[in-house]
Amino acid sequence: PTSMPIFTQDDVTKHRSIEEGVWVTYKGSVYDITEFVSMHPGGDKILLAAGGALEPFWALYAVHSQEHVLEILSEYKVGEL
Ligand code: HEM
Repeated sequence: PTSMPIFTQDDVTKHRSIEEGVWVTYKGSVYDITEFVSMHPGGDKILLAAGGALEPFWALYAVHSQEHVLEILSEYKVGEL
């Protein structure tokens, strides 16, 4: 997709629960991962990143440094920061 909406950090911060939607950012893109939360192999830990950046968490959990993880993430892109 070439033209996706631009969101503010504040828009992202408002989405940190299953009810309101779970959004995260990664490298300047915004992802709505609400549907993925229950499928996450690492369980509820994923919610620690809700409303914010994935980078600090993925730096700790190197299991995410794999192409297939980025492919999963890309399916949930909704816009850019
Ligand atoms: C494992 C995706 C966020 C913690 C995994 C795996 C995937 C995945 C695909 C399995 C990797 C493999 O074994 O090949 C994602 C996605 C995320 C996300 C798409 C964000 C949208 C997080 C966050 C944390 C986390 C924020 C921690 C705060 C873990 C842990 C595992 C894991 C601990 C290992 C589970 C195990 O093997 O027992 N994640 N993850 N993940 N994730 Fe995430």
